[in-house]
Amino acid sequence: MSDLKFTDRIDLRLRINDIDTHLEAIDARTSLLDLLREHVGLTGAKKGCNHGECGACTVLLDGRRVNGCLVLAAAVDGREVVTVEGLSDGEQLHPVQRAFIDCDAFQCGFCTPGQVISAVACIAEGHTTDEHEIREWMSGNICRCSSYPQIVEAVQAAAASENERIPS
Ligand code: FES
Ligand code: FES
Repeated sequence: MSDLKFTDRIDLRLRINDIDTHLEAIDARTSLLDLLREHVGLTGAKKGCNHGECGACTVLLDGRRVNGCLVLAAAVDGREVVTVEGLSDGEQLHPVQRAFIDCDAFQCGFCTPGQVISAVACIAEGHTTDEHEIREWMSGNICRCSSYPQIVEAVQAAAASENERIPS
């Protein structure tokens, strides 16, 4: 990738939501967010600021959350991406998605896909000890509607249901 010029077109092979995906002749300037939305048709990750400030574009890259608008698509060749579309199991919602609905953790919903992905990672990372810790580790995701209290509640509820499923 070091010899890549911005005028180049590139081929990419990556795994997206458990599907091996091959994309050809992608403009080397394409961000991961634009790759997902415009080339793969996955519009769950949203373009809020396009500057790494709002978290609406959050996806998992090899299991870690990243802002899709800040990652070049060329950098994800051979890697694994999970978007909000990849969380449910058919009609069965992911526990975090279910908790967001149960707790009414959104108003306009624009930030919700990024919040949900970030919440999944926040729980997997174990940053759910208390409200303060959840707020800190979810702070990269802005919600202009200020649904924060319900979002924290949803993360706590999903973390609790996760703990119930893991035998001690
Ligand atoms: S759109 Fe990527 S952080 Fe705002
Ligand atoms: S629900 Fe509207 S920005 Fe979060």
